[in-house]
Amino acid sequence: MLYTYQYLHSQSLNGVSKSHTNEVVIQTDALTRTFGTHTAVDNLTLEVNAGEIFGFLGHNGAGKTTTVRLLNGLLEPTQGHARVLGLDPVTQGPQLRQRTGVLTETPSLDDRMTAYENLAVYAAIYGLPRPIARTRANELLTIFGLAERMHDRVAGYSKGMKQRLALARALVHQPDLIFLDEPAAGLDPVVTRQLHELILHLSRDEGKTIFLCTHNLDEAQKLCQRVAVLQKGRVLALGTPSQLARDLVSEIRLTLEIDLSQADLAAELLARFTSKPLVLEASGLTVAGIVREQIPDVITALVSAGVRLYRVNHDAPTLEDVYFTLHTAAPEAA
Ligand SMILES: Nc1ncnc2c1ncn2[C@@H]1O[C@H](COP(=O)(O)OP(=O)(O)OP(=O)(O)O)[C@@H](O)[C@H]1O
Ligand SMILES: [Mg+2]
Repeated sequence: MLYTYQYLHSQSLNGVSKSHTNEVVIQTDALTRTFGTHTAVDNLTLEVNAGEIFGFLGHNGAGKTTTVRLLNGLLEPTQGHARVLGLDPVTQGPQLRQRTGVLTETPSLDDRMTAYENLAVYAAIYGLPRPIARTRANELLTIFGLAERMHDRVAGYSKGMKQRLALARALVHQPDLIFLDEPAAGLDPVVTRQLHELILHLSRDEGKTIFLCTHNLDEAQKLCQRVAVLQKGRVLALGTPSQLARDLVSEIRLTLEIDLSQADLAAELLARFTSKPLVLEASGLTVAGIVREQIPDVITALVSAGVRLYRVNHDAPTLEDVYFTLHTAAPEAA
């Protein structure tokens, strides 16, 4: 279980709330990486602003992890450029990695060491003086709910505990820019929620920038100011979740609270507007595949046919709707 972030907060900020700037911390220009004949990242051009939580979405193999490696100077681009925190990842990798924290998708922890030792070794690599490293390790292990087990060997840790330790390790040197590649993988729902709070806290209160690779569309919807949807190394769409929903998802779902004895009549009328199946629930009829502009016509058709209509709701399209709309419009070649 994660604990409150008060301590970390007061240590790093001395109670002063950081404001976000419009500074661009990641800038890529036609960034491209091929492996043999396969293009993993294809002409990627994007900007990420300071203090923002930027979501990077895409199917397995879309190029998310390869991008993270390119942006940290762990892999060289075949073409194109990136600037991260004002540095060139190709020529200034070590300098850059002092200021970035990376949670990789398969973190390599030393199983033979304790959690505390794992963090202490990392802190030493980053040049943190020993007393500061000790405080920082204790603080992070407390935040991530590992304080009681901090002197146990990592070999005996559960998957979720290892993931929490890896997260703590990514933060040990107080990086300005944090890359999280599937951070909630293996975490239980309680810890996942606490992780989300921590991510929001790091961005909102500490001004950290978070580059979040995730398959969890609810997570992205909840946390990210902007997202990019990647397919085969290319950006299919980029914007705020609500912008993308507005621009890309034309069909919505309506829930109609009606006199249920008239459900057959209502269903017959609704079938004129959509071929999608209707769902009858105690709360009413739910119908998908309606275009927003059709709503007045749907209501007119029902009311003029004598259907007693008590309430009409429409669900705001979600990032999940955006994601599936995009992938249906541009299916991946087999
Ligand atoms: N070192 C490598 N050698 C050869 N091909 C690679 C290498 N690294 C990545 N690739 C290929 O590049 C493509 C993108 O892989 P990447 O790991 O970036 O995808 P991803 O979006 O992170 O996927 P996932 O959601 O499964 O983690 C894949 O087709 C992968 O096989
Ligand atoms: Mg990946």
